[in-house]
Amino acid sequence: MFKASIAWALLALLWALPAQSQTNPGNDTANGWIVESYAGYNILHNLIAQTSYALVPQGPVFTNITGNVPQIQVPITSAAIDTLDILGFAELLSSNVTSSFTTGSSNILLANTSPCFTMSNNATATYTFANGTSTANNTIVFSANDPSLTPIQKASWLIYLAYFYNEERAAQLTVLNIMSQYNCIKTRVNSGVKEKYAIAWTQADMTTPQVYEIRVDTYAKTLIADAAAKMIAPNSAQDSTYSNVGNFHLALKGADMLLDTSPLSEGELWPQWLSIMNMVPGASLFYESEGYYKNRKVYRADGLVSKTGYSNFPERYAARPDLALMDMIAIQYPTFQNTYNTTWLYNFALGSSPQSFPANYVCNNAYVMLTNQISCYLDEPFTPPATQAAPTNETETDDGGSNSSSGDQSSSLSSGSKAGIAIGVIAGVAALGGAAFWFYRRRPTAEPSHNFYKMDEI
Ligand SMILES: *[C@@H]1O[C@H](CO)[C@@H](O)[C@H](O)[C@H]1NC(C)=O
Ligand SMILES: *[C@@H]1O[C@H](CO)[C@@H](O)[C@H](O)[C@H]1NC(C)=O
Ligand SMILES: *[C@@H]1O[C@H](CO)[C@@H](O)[C@H](O)[C@H]1NC(C)=O
Ligand SMILES: *[C@@H]1O[C@H](CO)[C@@H](O)[C@H](O)[C@H]1NC(C)=O
Ligand SMILES: *[C@@H]1O[C@H](CO)[C@@H](O)[C@H](O)[C@H]1NC(C)=O
Ligand SMILES: *[C@@H]1O[C@H](CO)[C@@H](O)[C@H](O)[C@H]1NC(C)=O
Ligand SMILES: *[C@@H]1O[C@H](CO)[C@@H](O)[C@H](O)[C@H]1NC(C)=O
Ligand SMILES: *[C@@H]1O[C@H](CO)[C@@H](O)[C@H](O)[C@H]1NC(C)=O
Ligand SMILES: *[C@@H]1O[C@H](CO)[C@@H](O)[C@H](O)[C@H]1NC(C)=O
Repeated sequence: MFKASIAWALLALLWALPAQSQTNPGNDTANGWIVESYAGYNILHNLIAQTSYALVPQGPVFTNITGNVPQIQVPITSAAIDTLDILGFAELLSSNVTSSFTTGSSNILLANTSPCFTMSNNATATYTFANGTSTANNTIVFSANDPSLTPIQKASWLIYLAYFYNEERAAQLTVLNIMSQYNCIKTRVNSGVKEKYAIAWTQADMTTPQVYEIRVDTYAKTLIADAAAKMIAPNSAQDSTYSNVGNFHLALKGADMLLDTSPLSEGELWPQWLSIMNMVPGASLFYESEGYYKNRKVYRADGLVSKTGYSNFPERYAARPDLALMDMIAIQYPTFQNTYNTTWLYNFALGSSPQSFPANYVCNNAYVMLTNQISCYLDEPFTPPATQAAPTNETETDDGGSNSSSGDQSSSLSSGSKAGIAIGVIAGVAALGGAAFWFYRRRPTAEPSHNFYKMDEI
């Protein structure tokens, strides 16, 4: 903890330097958004939705902003929410942000799982955050959910959101820490794993016409590769959706594990899932001999749910790629970090139960929210235990590899690097993405605090 606090303080100091002296995540078009700074205001561009906003201070309208860019006086004080994933980001900012989320569409009010919000169905709001075109007045498009973004690129949308609240500096610090946690665990697992498991990310849509999908988008591809696994994917000439269930089963050949995010109704468990997937006697020759089925390695992402049974995963996965990656690693290698309990993924085939929100869930404190679960030190190489079952190895996997995500520099750091804090800070000025590896030099104190999730204690 001690070293981590120093590192946070130093990076906070860094942020006090003039913005021009830094490269920052707000300037990388690959993230899907950029900011341009002018005297007295910023112009924020959403490159995915191709919309721009002039963010001006509270006060008179600026008359010198050219182009047809709507002016938004920041910080904004009330917003309606029409996209679920923004909630996972907002809870990492201050309570000024979470309390400004006054209302939302009926779907959002129903599906929100986070205890950090008090949205009501009769409140008004000046702006509406939406994930695409919306008929609401004063829409601000928030595109972190776009599947073309890598996990790290999604996380950068915290800064985009923070610009509407003048909290971009704190957000940058948080994003860098998420990036460095992500890159640290990615580096450790990839340096240790020699024989990779094959994972398929499946999603069935049972509305007619029924389709079975194997996800191949940049997000899924990058997360699986960064977790040192092979992705089961149709080759690029083939479609990734199947209307023929036999072809779908065939495409899953060689999968050691499945991660499934098909929508299920209340009470639908493993037997119902098997029937949805048509993994029933006589359906096909393939599935019964496959690793995922034989060894009961089918995972679902809805392992953390609200009292009403809604999953936290769609709400928070984009904001916390570090937890998503840890989960992907933990299902393969439970010994990667013995103290880690998965956040969202759980073994559905073995009938494990989802957890509901812990009473002591932390809101609005990024430092606590980030430091309580993952502890990663680059100089501790990971070796899978010899007792671990070998991958089945008979797969057709995607050969495209992952898209390189911004901030990947630290993955090339030698794992034995013993640089000091000063070096970390200098590296930080040069390339903030790489700098943050510094946080992983910290050591656990005698009694680490775990006041974020105590999933099994509720
Ligand atoms: C973004 O990068 C461009 C050129 O690479 C530079 O001119 C500009 O000042 C940068 N802006 C920020 C906010 O860092
Ligand atoms: C634009 O106008 C605002 C106030 O109307 C002023 O504060 C700012 O300095 C002006 N910027 C430029 C570049 O003239
Ligand atoms: C936008 O958000 C709504 C509500 O969360 C969701 O149903 C929809 O699929 C999202 N669309 C995209 C393109 O992410
Ligand atoms: C929250 O809003 C109050 C009142 O506008 C302001 O004084 C405070 O600095 C804000 N907090 C943060 C973290 O921005
Ligand atoms: C809005 O709903 C809340 C409860 O959800 C209620 O306490 C409040 O009085 C309502 N306000 C109005 C203006 O109807
Ligand atoms: C948008 O604003 C116009 C004019 O202020 C108003 O008439 C209209 O009802 C508003 N639409 C929505 C969806 O709030
Ligand atoms: C899997 O394949 C790799 C390379 O093709 C090989 O080195 C390894 O021995 C195989 N493992 C098993 C369990 O067959
Ligand atoms: C990711 O890869 C796809 C296909 O290879 C490409 O179209 C896309 O531009 C890449 N995205 C980034 C951010 O590099
Ligand atoms: C993980 O779960 C175990 C009980 O199964 C609990 O004792 C432990 O505190 C949990 N770890 C964390 C980090 O929450």
